[in-house]
Amino acid sequence: MTLQPSNSQPAANQSRGVQPSNSQPAANQPSASQQIEAQPSERPAALPSLQAQIDEAVASIAQHLKAKPQIALILGSGLGELIKSIDVDYSVIYAQIPHCQSSGAPGHLGQLVFGSLFGKQVVTMQGRLHGYEGNTPEQVVFPLRVMHALGAETLITTNAAGAINANWQVGDIMLINDHINFTGENPLTFNQLETAYEPCPDMTFAYSPALRELARKAAEQNGINLREGVYLGLRGPSFETPAEIRAFRTWGADAVGMSTVHEVIAAASCGMRVLGFSLLTNMAAGIEQKPITGEHVLEVSSSAGSRLAALVDSIVESL
Ligand code: HPA
Repeated sequence: MTLQPSNSQPAANQSRGVQPSNSQPAANQPSASQQIEAQPSERPAALPSLQAQIDEAVASIAQHLKAKPQIALILGSGLGELIKSIDVDYSVIYAQIPHCQSSGAPGHLGQLVFGSLFGKQVVTMQGRLHGYEGNTPEQVVFPLRVMHALGAETLITTNAAGAINANWQVGDIMLINDHINFTGENPLTFNQLETAYEPCPDMTFAYSPALRELARKAAEQNGINLREGVYLGLRGPSFETPAEIRAFRTWGADAVGMSTVHEVIAAASCGMRVLGFSLLTNMAAGIEQKPITGEHVLEVSSSAGSRLAALVDSIVESL
């Protein structure tokens, strides 16, 4: 699905019937300008605006909910453990949400799960949408926009990532204090939302300083040696080369992955408080002289994910 402004027409439709500029129409033929004027019946139905798509998705879900979600959670690759603590009220797979793409990535189930966690109403993306699956940035952040429109004002997002910081170890948890969006794309480009958000939103405090402080305290209470650093997001799907990792280190990146940055940009732009964690499933390319595989990433996130789940649990409890 390609999002188009509701008043736009595909290029193919615009050029239909146009004559070369030096040709003369025959006397009984319509002029070029008459031909360009497409008949309304020939026009493909315009897609609903982004706001209308969000409204439709929200309406399809809201009727099943007992309460509005306050906190949105995004569970990255293999990090489904957290779902076990949720007292589930309702769940819906992405494919059943109007205008939402479905997830096909390994380790990503692809559903929204609503329920309560330590007395807080939460909505959880059990698995996320990725750019490397062919989704546009707008499609990647669509479920996030729906969770916000349903009421969530806080986002806690998790991912699996490679450690660029060579002093860290596989299995460590990194609190994201900033990011580098190196996907070359931004989910706010051509933002068609009718609600007037700031067109060029500030990202200085995208990762809430207050929530980060809360996370440090929760980690201490849970005996977790929390790392803290910068996440660099790429589109993928190939893992990085050792030369790329060396370059990213000089830019100040501590971890690398294929998600999160677009969701955080969209969340921050609509005023959500954001907290992000990376579970470091491998040392980034070239740090250890061995290949990186998706299966290994999933194995580590499934086995080490319970500590991150415990940390998120205790943060939600204290919110
Ligand atoms: N690179 C990119 N994405 C990842 C990695 C990595 O090393 N590990 C887990 N996700």
